[in-house]
Amino acid sequence: MTRLAVVYYSSKGTIDTLARRCADTAERLGAEVRLRHVHELAPLQAINADERWRAHVEATADEPPATVDDVLWADAVLLGTPTRFGNLAGQLMAFLESLGPQWREGLLAHKVYAGFTASASGPSQECTLLSLYTTIHHFGGVVVTPSSLEHELGLDELTERVLAVAHALEDAA
Ligand SMILES: Cc1cc2nc3c(=O)[nH]c(=O)nc-3n(C[C@H](O)[C@H](O)[C@H](O)COP(=O)(O)O)c2cc1C
Repeated sequence: MTRLAVVYYSSKGTIDTLARRCADTAERLGAEVRLRHVHELAPLQAINADERWRAHVEATADEPPATVDDVLWADAVLLGTPTRFGNLAGQLMAFLESLGPQWREGLLAHKVYAGFTASASGPSQECTLLSLYTTIHHFGGVVVTPSSLEHELGLDELTERVLAVAHALEDAA
């Protein structure tokens, strides 16, 4: 059974909704799934000043946060982040940077990775995903790209393609 980790950051719930959809789709397709949000790093003052942000932090407080082991465990990793000034969120980047020792040991290579994002406008999403791919290239991972950035159409297909590539790699090994 292919093991898929959906590792994401969301402040106000948009990416959270997309991450759950990926997880549901992957389970429906027979994968073993871990759905994991990364640690919030923003100051409490900023979170509490925004009702949607505060509500989302509270809603996910009891769910397990992403750990290094979740990435090591997975055959495939789907990474979700809101677009932040045309880039990925610092919270997700901080998590990826925490994987330095595992990268050095070559433990992140040969896994399948893909990214998904959301933004207020379309073009920024491509910048965000390209930034994410830079890190995945550094890991030595296999990148699967979405065929559409329209999430209602693209997310299920992206999840399916990630699992198909992971299957193919398992068969080839
Ligand atoms: C600090 C900050 C920077 C953002 N930068 C961009 C941007 O460059 N382009 C864009 O279209 N949307 C931008 N947005 C909008 C978010 O990407 C968008 O609202 C996202 O869907 C929020 O996801 P979430 O609900 O999971 O937190 C930004 C939002 C914030 C708070």
